[in-house]
Amino acid sequence: MSGNRAVAYLKPGAVEVRTIDYPTLELQDGPGVASKNVGRKCRHGVILKVLATNICGSDQHMVRGRTTAPEGLVLGHEITGEIVERGPDVEFLDVGDIVSVPFNIACGRCRNCKERKTGICLSVNPARPGAAYGYVDMGGWVGGQAEYVMVPYADFNALRFPDRDAAREKLLDLTMLSDIFPTGFHGAVTAGAGVGSTVYVAGAGPVGLAAAASAQLLGAAVVIVGDLNAQRLAQARSFGCETVDVSRGPVEEQIAEILGEPEVDAAVDAVGFEARGHGSADAPEAPATVLNSLMGVTKAGGALGIPGLYVTDDPGGVDQDARTGTLKVRLGLGWAKSHHFTTGQCPVMKYHRALSQAILHDKVHIAKAVNATVIGIEEAPRGYAEFDQGASRKYVLDPHGALNGVRAV
Ligand SMILES: NC(=O)c1ccc[n+]([C@@H]2O[C@H](COP(=O)([O-])OP(=O)(O)OC[C@H]3O[C@@H](n4cnc5c(N)ncnc54)[C@H](O)[C@@H]3O)[C@@H](O)[C@H]2O)c1
Ligand SMILES: [Zn+2]
Ligand SMILES: [Zn+2]
Repeated sequence: MSGNRAVAYLKPGAVEVRTIDYPTLELQDGPGVASKNVGRKCRHGVILKVLATNICGSDQHMVRGRTTAPEGLVLGHEITGEIVERGPDVEFLDVGDIVSVPFNIACGRCRNCKERKTGICLSVNPARPGAAYGYVDMGGWVGGQAEYVMVPYADFNALRFPDRDAAREKLLDLTMLSDIFPTGFHGAVTAGAGVGSTVYVAGAGPVGLAAAASAQLLGAAVVIVGDLNAQRLAQARSFGCETVDVSRGPVEEQIAEILGEPEVDAAVDAVGFEARGHGSADAPEAPATVLNSLMGVTKAGGALGIPGLYVTDDPGGVDQDARTGTLKVRLGLGWAKSHHFTTGQCPVMKYHRALSQAILHDKVHIAKAVNATVIGIEEAPRGYAEFDQGASRKYVLDPHGALNGVRAV
């Protein structure tokens, strides 16, 4: 095998589908590869034929030029595929297995992995704790928006679907297990969503919608989703959520109209550092808006789940502070209300097996909730552009036609 079509970051606003090398069981030098990772042997890895790989809001931060991602970085951290080659140290997976791959790369051997904190594995990224495929500052592991990709520490990372036929049939739902479904679920769980709770989710992008569907799965009495994108709010209503339009004015007033009181039990930030200010449709970016408004609307003693991404370097930040990820967060308010906060990468592995069972046994309809939309890998630039413009869709790339005829369940 020689070529491998893959989606690469070109420059702010542009991605390109290009032919890269077919993966090997060794991390080769390339754009974004940490120097200490060059030549890293992956006898514990597998090579996957990618069956489904999704475009994420996290990719958009890079493609909008809001990170220091290098030109040529191959994108894609949401990967589901079939094993076509296994390294000599792989014990429990076989060629032909269909697997979901957590977007976090974890070794399974370090202190944090042993504590199930797989989003901050200590040994896969020489620059800082935590690694991912196709992501700036995440070790340089080659992205999976490609026909083929190498997955290291495969026994530990991969979730194998024992029934291949069932996996293929529900692939459009199962592809959400690599990131947004566990991420949304983690947001809801860490916010304290549970039976009978009231939940506010800021952001009606795919992660917010996944958090809302997760809160429902957890038994929430009312799930309210906020955004300023009317189409995305309509998508949230399509599966039973209430909505608030943050461009109309204060969130707490709109929550009071729905609940009869201005507070909720649990709140999720599914927006992150590119948050827009409230109160007008063309409000400029105000990166601490969501964090501050969530502290305002969450009951005393409640919690904030914060999957929305915050960065240490943002070349496009609104001011000097924002450019170093320094935000004007009203911590005094959160402190006074004894709030808990949970930030960081979602440790996907904590949740993906249980959520796969919920999908396979029809307990949740995650692909419908996020409006999963299949496109070919050559159409990736269009998918990125439409998603950037706020399309209410979760774009799923289908490099090998595996999703032909597959429907959301
Ligand atoms: N923690 C993790 O492990 C993890 C995993 C995946 C994604 N993420 C992050 O989650 C965030 C959401 O991802 P996504 O794919 O849904 O992105 P997205 O960009 O599609 O969605 C963000 C939504 O927030 C809305 N928004 C902007 N300002 C708002 C405000 N003040 N109040 C309410 N809504 C507002 C936007 O209109 C948009 O619809 C991103 O920051 C992404 O990087 C984190
Ligand atoms: Zn993602
Ligand atoms: Zn580790």
